[in-house]
Amino acid sequence: MKKIIALALALATICCFFTACGGNADEDKTLTMATNATFPPYEFYEGEKIVGIDAEIAAKIAEKLGMELEIQDTEFGSIIAGVQTGKYDIGMAGMTVTEERLKTVNFSTTYATGVQAIIVPEGSAIKTVDDITPEHKIGVQQDTTGHIYASDSVENGGYGEDAVVPFNKGTDAVAALVSGKVDCVIIDNEPAKAYVAANDGLVILDTEYVTEDYAICVAKDNEELLEKINTALEGLIADGTVEEIVNKYISAE
Ligand code: ARG
Repeated sequence: MKKIIALALALATICCFFTACGGNADEDKTLTMATNATFPPYEFYEGEKIVGIDAEIAAKIAEKLGMELEIQDTEFGSIIAGVQTGKYDIGMAGMTVTEERLKTVNFSTTYATGVQAIIVPEGSAIKTVDDITPEHKIGVQQDTTGHIYASDSVENGGYGEDAVVPFNKGTDAVAALVSGKVDCVIIDNEPAKAYVAANDGLVILDTEYVTEDYAICVAKDNEELLEKINTALEGLIADGTVEEIVNKYISAE
């Protein structure tokens, strides 16, 4: 009987060892992050390289996890589905935590806040958020919270589908604003500031709109990774690393 128990224990140990170390060891060392790199200062290209607040925080998290970070640029709207199916380990893209998204993915501890901002051409008749009507053309980035709020019904505080013009990239929405194809753009405040700085003749309305929390999304069935990420991220918040990275890209007003 003792022998059998000893043998069973030995077998169990060997099995554990192989599941932990065997298989796709290489894959497990890579942390694949999906983003949409048209969103300065969170993610944008500097030459061939994707840089920004998210890229730097993710690199620090990967370092803590002993993994190699691999950033993949994709459409914002395909990040969540890709994380859900396991194509990517995480999604990090200045992504707002919403009830709807929480139905399909989990979110980490939040690491930043965003505010939806409204960009208009200088001298626009739209002076406050209340001047926007369903007759206006509102530019947004496809599948973002700005898109979701703006296309909601008027009763729900939106302007209706017909008023909204979705663009693949935030930069395309801003280009349409510059050329007069849309009357305003609703997008997160930090990218809004970067777009306005990069284009003449645009201003951000001084208006109170929705405040949001940014977090990293992870597949629902990957609780283990979520926990590791939270531990790493919370450490980086506590020791001031996150703040340091944010301050590098966003100058305090
Ligand atoms: N915060 C907004 C959202 O979650 C916009 C994020 C867009 N991010 C990007 N990298 N393009 O919907």
